[in-house]
Amino acid sequence: MSFGDSKQIITNQPGIHDNLTEIVNKHLTHEFKKPIAEHTRSAFDQVNELVQRHQGPIILDACCGVGQSSRILASRYPDALVVGVDKSDNRISRNVDDVWQADNYVLVRADLNDFYRLVVEANWPVEQHYILYPNPWPKAKHVQRRWHGSAVFGYIVKVGKTLHLRSNWRLYLEEFLHAAQIAGYQGKITEVNDEQPITPFEAKYQASGQTCYQLTISLRS
Ligand SMILES: C[S@@+](CC[C@H](N)C(=O)[O-])C[C@H]1O[C@@H](n2cnc3c(N)ncnc32)[C@H](O)[C@@H]1O
Repeated sequence: MSFGDSKQIITNQPGIHDNLTEIVNKHLTHEFKKPIAEHTRSAFDQVNELVQRHQGPIILDACCGVGQSSRILASRYPDALVVGVDKSDNRISRNVDDVWQADNYVLVRADLNDFYRLVVEANWPVEQHYILYPNPWPKAKHVQRRWHGSAVFGYIVKVGKTLHLRSNWRLYLEEFLHAAQIAGYQGKITEVNDEQPITPFEAKYQASGQTCYQLTISLRS
C-alpha cells in the first residue's frame, strides 16, 4: 500500500442522490428476501456461540479489512468481545502481526448483506457498531451499492446502541444520515481528530492530507 498519494474522491454527484429518499423508503417497507448464503450462515453460527457465552459488551466492526481496528477496539475495551466482519478472505486471514494485539476479538469472513440479518434475528446485544471506511461507490449510478442505499439498510440501523461510520467522503455520511433520519434516527458529523489512525485506510487518507469524517448515530438506549 502506498502512503501519501491517496486520491480524493471523484464523484458526478453534486449533493445527496436525487433518488435516495425513494430508495430508502422502498427498502424500509419491503422485506429483504434474498436467501442467506450457506458460508455466511455457518460463519455466523460459530461466532454466535462466542457472543452468547460472552459476559461483557459486544462490539461489531463491520468491513474490518485486516482487522487493525478490531484489535485496537479490543485493547481499548478489554471487557468487550469485538467481532470484526469482512467478506475478503485475503484481508481477514492476513494475520497481521501489528503492535495492537488482544485476545478478546474474533475476525469472521462473511457477507454483511446476510450477516446483518442474522445479527438482528439473533438479537445480539451490540453496544457499539463501527463501519470504518466502507467502499464509497462514488458514481451516482452505484448509489444502491452504498450501505444506506442497500436493501439491508433497515437491518443495519437495528444493530447496536451507537453507530460510528467513518469516511473521507463527507457526502457518504450526509447521505447515510439522511437515510437514518427517514428511519427515525438522529446523528451528527464531525471531523476525525484522533492522534492515531484506527485503520490502514484512515492512515492512508491522513497521510495524503485528506480530512476524514465520522458520523455518530444514537440508535437505541
Ligand atoms: C475500503 S475497505 C476498508 C477496510 C478497513 N475498515 C479500513 O479502514 O482499513 C472496505 C472493506 O469492506 C469490505 N466489504 C465490502 N463489502 C462487504 C460486504 N458486503 N460484506 C463484508 N465486507 C465487505 C471489503 O472487503 C473491504 O475490506
